[in-house]
Amino acid sequence: MTLDPIAAAWERLDQAVARSRPTSIVDLFAAEPDRLTRLTVDAAGLTLDLSKQSWSRDGLDAVLALARAAGVETARDKLFAGAVVNRSEGRAVLHPALRAPDGAAFFADGVPVSAEIEAGRGRMKALADGIRAGDIRGATGQPFKAILHIGIGGSDLGPRLVWEALKPLAPTLDLRFAANVDGAEIVQALTGLDPETTLVIAVSKTFTTLETLANAEVARDWLRASLGEAGARRHFAAVSAAPDKAVAFGVDADRVFAFWDWVGGRFSIWSAVGLSCAIALGYDRFQRFLDGAAAMDRHFVEAPLEANAPVLLAGAHLYNRNGLGRGARAVVPYAQRLRLLPAFLQQLEMESNGKRTRTDGAPVTHATATVVFGDAGTNGQHAFFQLLHQGADVIPVDLVGFARTDEGPADMHVKLTANLLAQAEALMIGRSEADVRAELAGKGLSPAEIDILAPQRTFPGDRPTSLILGDILSPENLGALLALYEHKTFVEGVIWGINSFDQWGVELGKTLAVRLLGELDGGPRSVHDPSTTALVARLAASTGP
Ligand code: F6P
Repeated sequence: MTLDPIAAAWERLDQAVARSRPTSIVDLFAAEPDRLTRLTVDAAGLTLDLSKQSWSRDGLDAVLALARAAGVETARDKLFAGAVVNRSEGRAVLHPALRAPDGAAFFADGVPVSAEIEAGRGRMKALADGIRAGDIRGATGQPFKAILHIGIGGSDLGPRLVWEALKPLAPTLDLRFAANVDGAEIVQALTGLDPETTLVIAVSKTFTTLETLANAEVARDWLRASLGEAGARRHFAAVSAAPDKAVAFGVDADRVFAFWDWVGGRFSIWSAVGLSCAIALGYDRFQRFLDGAAAMDRHFVEAPLEANAPVLLAGAHLYNRNGLGRGARAVVPYAQRLRLLPAFLQQLEMESNGKRTRTDGAPVTHATATVVFGDAGTNGQHAFFQLLHQGADVIPVDLVGFARTDEGPADMHVKLTANLLAQAEALMIGRSEADVRAELAGKGLSPAEIDILAPQRTFPGDRPTSLILGDILSPENLGALLALYEHKTFVEGVIWGINSFDQWGVELGKTLAVRLLGELDGGPRSVHDPSTTALVARLAASTGP
């Protein structure tokens, strides 16, 4: 029986994995003299080193053959051409259009969009420049000093990450965030803010999200209490793909910034969703962030697959996930200012590719997205790295670092970088039991003690890492980094045959929450499982009216 090309490519990958599995990464370096150069790629100012991955040349070739068989190049070209690639929602997916330079010509399902994007950017710039220059002021004539950004998921994680990463470049305005429907967050965010100098920006693609509307109401009441209804309006802006809903909420139409349904929430930082960052950082820095992403877009479109950073990063992850059955991945940025990167990637990867059904409705043939977790290095080293080094599961790690820093003492940055390199090396080379035994014997331990201790102090090694290195944490490099991960996520989705741009899996919980809210508020009870019924009875008594 002849296999279809995709099934044959999967089989080729399985065979390549089986052949190279017994060979350690260290031995692969010895066997493949060109390994480092072949597996190091420069893209849009970033260097990607995938030489410390478990794949042999054979394995890499199999992954690339799989990418070709799955139609990655065609799918990429369709995405950039504005075809309806989000088929379950009938939409194009065009975040690259948002960061393309002025004069670009993108089309969403045949409709030109670039002029509208440029006009939108112009409005963002006008507000950002006006506020920063003090020309646009609050209701009492005071300049704005703080922004409260309200949103959740894709309307929060990108802006929060960008601000945290770049705020030292523009320390004049105070930008705060409130996402959770736990009121504790907005109470804390408002603490110390003065309504007379605060601009509230409510960001929601749908403008129906429970958490965002609840927080927006709290913020609006807070403004109204000091400034009155008319004054509060001058302190409130909204960003949405449903601008009419924002107006219906009470936001002045000239303070509503629209984006489009072809911008997925987790891909939306490049749109007006980034407005708070554009104001707080200054529009020029926001533009540089867009430029970095645009450079990665060009690389993704132009580079051959074997030198294509998003494709190779996807390939390494796929090799670990499908070839070696590794169900989790750690992301560890050696940059405190990127400590929110793992949270951003959790939504990007797990909401995009956490799926078990193909675009044609059939079950997937292979495992899809992994669990993503992480924290900034070196902090993570003192928390979960024990498991990375000696745990029963092998967990590949993405490491992100920068050659230079624009903050803090230079010698601290050298220490940080030394730790990055040390962890990657330690994960790969490990430490043999023989070595440990020799050391313990040298310390005078008895053979019986050595038998007990040596296995516990042995590091198996052979644990793969990907390294992404930039010169400095600049707006351009941050843009390129996020675009790299966006495209990598898309490539994986294409190979797995799933739609990376919908998120049906978040709906059921939302629906049930609305029903349970009614019940906790004293409304009629519906039939639940015994556990939920008991909990409703208990919690309605304590939180109900
Ligand atoms: O619940 C998931 C989700 O739909 C995300 O995809 C989205 O980024 C987030 O909620 C927020 O949605 P919105 O921007 O419409 O408020």
